[in-house]
Amino acid sequence: MNNIVMLTCYDAITATLLADCGIDILLVGDSVGNVKLGYKNTLPVTMDDMIRHTQAVARGNIGKIKIATDMPYKSFEDNADLAVENAKKLIRAGADYVKIEGGKEIIDSIKAIIGAGIKIIGHLGLMPQSIEKMGGYKIQCRDEESRKKLLEDALLLEEAGVSMIVLEGIPEDAAKTVTEKLKIPTIGIGAGRYCGGQVLVSDDMLGLFESFKPKFVKRYANLAGIIKQAAKQYSKEVKEGIFPEEENVYK
Ligand code: KIV
Repeated sequence: MNNIVMLTCYDAITATLLADCGIDILLVGDSVGNVKLGYKNTLPVTMDDMIRHTQAVARGNIGKIKIATDMPYKSFEDNADLAVENAKKLIRAGADYVKIEGGKEIIDSIKAIIGAGIKIIGHLGLMPQSIEKMGGYKIQCRDEESRKKLLEDALLLEEAGVSMIVLEGIPEDAAKTVTEKLKIPTIGIGAGRYCGGQVLVSDDMLGLFESFKPKFVKRYANLAGIIKQAAKQYSKEVKEGIFPEEENVYK
């Protein structure tokens, strides 16, 4: 089994650190809005945000890992020409793929971008850019009708030439069915064990968020604890005159 490993990355230093870790794709997700820019959701994220973070990741990407960048809210939905123009900007910033949320309703934009020679990663199931329509961050595809639509959308994206599809926040058996019906790989996040790969938000996986851990997240580190401990120690040492010490001063 050779599952695809995708991990979000938003800055140059993290991209450099990830060089030899077995990551196949760095995702400059629009989750940058939640985890780095302090927004409640991904809707305020702009093309300028995505371009700047893609450029930073590309500069730090010494391991030459493939980079995928999210097309942000309202950068592709309503106008196929604008979608192509914006996708080109992200490729120029350093992305190898653009990732786009949606199925049938955005198929014209998808086809136009692929027609311009740009590789796309689709995104179905729980689509954070549609939280208002979905009534919040809820697990999707719990009924037959929405499972049918998921499969139809996935097949439509595959037929249009999409390279792979992220499946977010759906029951494991729904993801398994889609994965089995497609020839292109699926990448799961909260979609169970049977996808062709997995993606996690790095801040979740590294334990930077302490307050809430969704069921699908596994924490591989506790960076929040490490950062707080280091900051407290630094503060204590400065206040008590312990830092800087002999080895930290220029003579
Ligand atoms: O923006 C993002 O980080 C994503 C992942 C959750 C797949 O789309």
